[in-house]
Amino acid sequence: MEPGEPTRRPGGARLRATLRVLAELGPSTAGWMVLGSLRQALRARAEADRLAVPPPDSGQGPGALEELTEEADAVVARFARATLTLAFLAPDCLLLEWRRRAAPEDPPPSLLAGDRARERVTPTRHPSAEGVLELDAGGPLRVRLGADGTLVVLDGAGEVVRVDEPPCWREAGWSARWACPPGALVTGLGLQAGPLDRRGRRYRLWNLDPGGSWGPDAGPLYCNVPVLLAVDGARSLLDVLDTSEALEVDLRSPGSGWVGAPAGPLRRVLALGRPPLLLERLAELTGPPALPPRWALGYQHSRWGFRSAATVAGIRAGFAACGLPISAIHLDIDHLAGYRVLTADPKRFGDLPGLVRGLAALGTRVVTIVDPGVKVDRGFGLFRRGVAGDRFCRTPRGRLAIGVVWPGRAAFPDFADPAVRDWWAEEVAARLRTSGVGGLWHDMNEPTCLRVGAEPRLPLATRHRIDGQVYDHAALRNRYANDMNEAGFRGSRLARPEARPFVLSRSGWLGGQRHAWHWTGDAETSWAGLRQQVAAVLGLGLSGFPFTGSDVGGFTADPDPELYLRWLQFAVFVPLLRTHAMIGLRPREPWRWPEPFRRAVASWIRFRYRLLPLLLGLAHEAAEQGAPPVRPLWWPDGEAAAELGDDAFLLGDDLLVAPVCTPGARRRALRLPAGRWVGAWAGSSPTALAGRTVVQLGAPLERLPLAVRAGRILVLDDAWADPQGACQLEGDEALGAEDRAWTRGTLDPAHVPGCWALHCWPAEDPEGRAAGAEGQALDEAGDGHGPVRLDHYRLAGVAEDGTATLAWERTGTFPPPASVRVVVHGWAVERALADGRPAAVEGGTVRCGPFDELVLVGLRRRAAAPSPAYHLD
Ligand code: NOJ
Repeated sequence: MEPGEPTRRPGGARLRATLRVLAELGPSTAGWMVLGSLRQALRARAEADRLAVPPPDSGQGPGALEELTEEADAVVARFARATLTLAFLAPDCLLLEWRRRAAPEDPPPSLLAGDRARERVTPTRHPSAEGVLELDAGGPLRVRLGADGTLVVLDGAGEVVRVDEPPCWREAGWSARWACPPGALVTGLGLQAGPLDRRGRRYRLWNLDPGGSWGPDAGPLYCNVPVLLAVDGARSLLDVLDTSEALEVDLRSPGSGWVGAPAGPLRRVLALGRPPLLLERLAELTGPPALPPRWALGYQHSRWGFRSAATVAGIRAGFAACGLPISAIHLDIDHLAGYRVLTADPKRFGDLPGLVRGLAALGTRVVTIVDPGVKVDRGFGLFRRGVAGDRFCRTPRGRLAIGVVWPGRAAFPDFADPAVRDWWAEEVAARLRTSGVGGLWHDMNEPTCLRVGAEPRLPLATRHRIDGQVYDHAALRNRYANDMNEAGFRGSRLARPEARPFVLSRSGWLGGQRHAWHWTGDAETSWAGLRQQVAAVLGLGLSGFPFTGSDVGGFTADPDPELYLRWLQFAVFVPLLRTHAMIGLRPREPWRWPEPFRRAVASWIRFRYRLLPLLLGLAHEAAEQGAPPVRPLWWPDGEAAAELGDDAFLLGDDLLVAPVCTPGARRRALRLPAGRWVGAWAGSSPTALAGRTVVQLGAPLERLPLAVRAGRILVLDDAWADPQGACQLEGDEALGAEDRAWTRGTLDPAHVPGCWALHCWPAEDPEGRAAGAEGQALDEAGDGHGPVRLDHYRLAGVAEDGTATLAWERTGTFPPPASVRVVVHGWAVERALADGRPAAVEGGTVRCGPFDELVLVGLRRRAAAPSPAYHLD
């Protein structure tokens, strides 16, 4: 954390949160909760064994090698007590599975779901002087197997990347240790409190609700992902642990690691290469992230405590009155009838379809919360149908497994069972059809049972079924949310096959990106809490979860206006931009803040809409290649990762965002990544800064430091420019009031860009001349499964006579935008010819229709003096 940060009192926030929750629950549910907690505490000792992980190096190893065979594209090594199967899924990707020869039971099915997980590349066996064999598949990854089961991972040059010792088994559990270069940053593991570099700590991968508040030292949290990424340039190594058992991962000793599980298979996939390739492999192995609708990338607003439809309609009207776009309003548990899921309170939300229709006409979707716990109530149709169809989890004695959640006693659908997912998808679809609701918000789906002083969960012996086979809760708990999300996703598809579903989930596990976005849960409202979110979003992205975000302002307390504004400035560059807060806190609508914060908050929300073309392109990249939109500063090459820190990030490859996480700070230091960077804001110094240097960045209250990679072209939607607001780019002064979408007070439901603007930040040659810029963009209808258009832009360097040509290549059938704007940052254009015809020039910027070639004439440097407040130096 940065120096000068105020001391936190997380305990205070947790206590206040607990008291508010108790007040909400009422005496009966609180009573059941206390009883449930006592029972859970009594079970704790008996349950400890089921979750116990054998200590390192305890138990038995595989024994001596007895036989080596080649079977259908795999090599099988039979040891005295265990069998190791090695199969290449790609030349850079190896599946390895250890099975004890006397395995007591069938493990749950693999979580790997992508095509790559089924592919096999025939390996080549090489003789090995040091081991019994070496294997590769013609790529950079080679493994050497020792006679005792040691596995050495080598790169293409034969250098050692990692040494895996033979695993050990004790009772049902196993543990495995490895040695690796101490200098490589290790990340992954999903949502973790603490730095992005996971070294130096021990982790328990067991999805749990931390109890209404979490800050930098908490854990375990809601969304663990058994993925480790050791970042070391081209020798970076991905390690995917394919099990839903509660894992322990110990990264405390430099140069080594250890993982253990209480039961289940030791099945891992290793891949070697630079980080973008490894994230692509991860998406191929676990399933690609679903492409979201464009509206999900807009501003979303939520609060636990919107008590009636009238309150919600009033909030939408408030946004319209302020000329602010809003893409979704979330309804928390307040909207439900007695906390019964998939209902609406008949008095306070009597006409939910009417509310949904009214908001949809203004371009705003309604997203409703869905918890897994179904109220035990014979008068409740969903519960009755669940019982009749045998859809709920059961105790070992065959009774319903009951937990206490908001509605009191609740039953939990057994989402592991494919038939239950089918049933739930139908229930969800029916609800979406009648209500018109646009998205699902899956909360409490670890799944959580409310408890005091005990783990907030179902008993470990609770039974789940997969295709007739029974597993205990300990084995499947970690995948519960993924299975629920799949059911909700399919329900959305059933209800509206033409639309792309939006499911937001709190919990998740390996592969969770396939069906849901994730938010970081009940983040502590504090400066340290904000700082933690930067690492949290980065860490989720590097675990395969590209679409994430945090409650803007933090969940647990009232942020002061400066903290809220700084949190918003960060969140505008993160896929999920949603304000949300605990019940009983002050409302956070933009107009509730005092000046100058109010104007700044409005300007930042508008700026988010300016970024939508860029965000949509990144969403496609995530869906196709697994690359997270929010990337660490060492992306894409993975060099010098440990030095670059986790308090700033890249949005895509070219926009550098440096959040401000210290109260009162108006400057901040940053170690720039490789490349040359130029300040993005109007008034920034036009000189590009060289990467790999530490710079001081101006950070006035209304703006966070934002830089662009020199030589790049970014497409923005300039209809959302705010020439008088906080977020100004050069050339905005040329936009008139009639250009601004927000002065019209409505939001186009499809969020189609109003003005496709090509912002060019040319690189400079050694003589200080503009040496050109390049960029790509993508456009499509914003929802559904229709055609896409891919654009490539190339601006040539400015010639001696002050001319430069911008070429626009289009592929795909989605039509180009009607109106285009071109801004060359640092330069003013005098005249322009679009495909030979004169184009309009205002304030040194060009406006025209789509073109193949735009000739810019009379380019000269802009004279405006940079403002010291935005200096990069
Ligand atoms: C816990 C969630 O994390 C929070 O976002 C939500 O407001 C409450 N549950 C109430 O539903």
